[in-house]
Amino acid sequence: MVILLNCSFRGEKSNTRYFLGQLETLLNEPCRHAALNRIKEEQERAELFSDADAIVLGMPLYVDGPPAQAVEFMERLYEEGRGRLKRIPVYVVANMGFYESRQLHILLSVVKNWCARLDLSYGGGLAIGAGEMMGGLGKIPLDQGPNKEMGQGLKKLAAHIGKRTDTEDLYVEPTGFPRRLYLLAAGMSWGRQAKKNGVKRKEIKRRR
Ligand SMILES: Cc1cc2nc3c(=O)[nH]c(=O)nc-3n(C[C@H](O)[C@H](O)[C@H](O)COP(=O)(O)O)c2cc1C
Repeated sequence: MVILLNCSFRGEKSNTRYFLGQLETLLNEPCRHAALNRIKEEQERAELFSDADAIVLGMPLYVDGPPAQAVEFMERLYEEGRGRLKRIPVYVVANMGFYESRQLHILLSVVKNWCARLDLSYGGGLAIGAGEMMGGLGKIPLDQGPNKEMGQGLKKLAAHIGKRTDTEDLYVEPTGFPRRLYLLAAGMSWGRQAKKNGVKRKEIKRRR
């Protein structure tokens, strides 16, 4: 059984949940979704590992690192589970707001180091840039348009998870969708959101 652990505060509505769902469609074995914001007790944390043959941590990037609740989860498991956890492979599906997926290398390194300290095997990660856009492209097949590179990454990761083998970390961005267009679209959406929340554009500019 593969556990797909959503570490986003946004839970079911998160981009992370969407990416884990896409990964699930490519895995030919039983999977179980779990949400970190529902896991409170030591026993529940331990059970994730006892039930699983492999675990995928789905993480958004928060301030250039893993979200606080994921850090807390890792710290607690380090205290509670050191030397006692089943040695299963840990994979990561990470996404971020900015376009350049390379910025996720710190988050992946944090998980890699945590695995090494807990004697878990780090199986590799998929780093997805422009996550706010990629998380909304569910109507486009994974092998088409902007999804192409991410689709290939998800397929490669799924193949490694299926065999429980390691992959190098994979970094993907929207295919054929340039960074400057992404920035333009993101700028427009900030403006719309600000208006919705009663903030005037000139106020945002003044605060910068
Ligand atoms: C508190 C906070 C900090 C963030 N920090 C970063 C960041 O450092 N770099 C980045 O590219 N995106 C950052 N983001 C954007 C998220 O990574 C992005 O919106 C992501 O798609 C959220 O995924 P989720 O829906 O799975 O939570 C941040 C978002 C929040 C709420």
